[in-house]
Amino acid sequence: MGWAQALADRPRAPLMSRPSPLHPAPRLSAALGVDLWLKRDDVGSIGLAGNKARKLELTLGAALAEGADCVVTVGAAQSNHCRATAAAAAALGLEAHLLLRGDAPAGPPTGNLLLDRLFGARVHVAGVEDWAGLAAALDALAARLRDEGRRPLVLPAGGSTPLGALGFVAAYGELLDQLDAAGVEAAHLFHASTSGGTHAGLALGHALHGRGPAPVGLEVGRLYDDVPAAVARIANEAAALLGAGVRLDPAALALPDDQIGAGYGAFTGAAAEAIALAGRLEGLVFDPVYSGKALAGVVARARAGELDGPVVLWHTGGAPSIFAAGFADGALRA
Ligand SMILES: Cc1ncc(COP(=O)(O)O)c(C=O)c1O
Repeated sequence: MGWAQALADRPRAPLMSRPSPLHPAPRLSAALGVDLWLKRDDVGSIGLAGNKARKLELTLGAALAEGADCVVTVGAAQSNHCRATAAAAAALGLEAHLLLRGDAPAGPPTGNLLLDRLFGARVHVAGVEDWAGLAAALDALAARLRDEGRRPLVLPAGGSTPLGALGFVAAYGELLDQLDAAGVEAAHLFHASTSGGTHAGLALGHALHGRGPAPVGLEVGRLYDDVPAAVARIANEAAALLGAGVRLDPAALALPDDQIGAGYGAFTGAAAEAIALAGRLEGLVFDPVYSGKALAGVVARARAGELDGPVVLWHTGGAPSIFAAGFADGALRA
């Protein structure tokens, strides 16, 4: 398998212990009438990095090998990706510059913003809301750093580059090994999706292995006009990095948006109910922006009788936002 060797040969900055746990959720399973397993990327990584650790191991690993001395990225004020980047940069001795959407929030920093400060990141308030404006501001910030003689790695929103997606190609193989060891033949695989790197990597991993459940990315925000096309592009460029002759067809990707509600960050009653179920039945933390909406998608499908075999829900992290001002209400009472 040439692609597997090419994947193993990529430089990687270690940011998590692997494999992340895979375990059954017996009480949730009983409540939903399905055999539910949780893949716990929310535990065991630097700075509670969640799914971001897998991307950052590769993007920062390559950047360090190429002599970068800082990392610049962009996101919402409560961005998990920015917080994870800040933690990873701290651990690797890189300076992190975070360009955060909108205006400076009032009051003391909470949730991810608090952690950004704790990890020593330089926080830049963008003063703009739209993603095109933010991308332009990111370029300007990177240019300014270069003018100052710095060598920045520039990461887009969500850190979803083809190189980062390779982290989830490897993760798909990790899951298959764990399912094999547990003797479980999973019929379904769900996760929360926005910038698409997670889905691109899992879908490519599925295609390369030629077995296992096809990932379903429950969209919780829309970053691109044509999401499947953007995600397929990331996956296909990732395949090219491995020299793999596979091409994913955008039309074959499963990116349903039935849990998105009024959009990115908008709280939904379904996610609030799912978060409460996981908390009360399993002592687990899901968040209202990502993992709670993904769990809500599983709950809805279980209740509709659509799940006909073991189900894996990839817990991609995101718990710190629960502690952000205004988020606890959304998690508990949407
Ligand atoms: C907790 C969490 N889950 C899922 C996602 C979605 O991953 P991706 O951006 O790769 O689609 C994110 C991205 O910000 C996230 O923070």
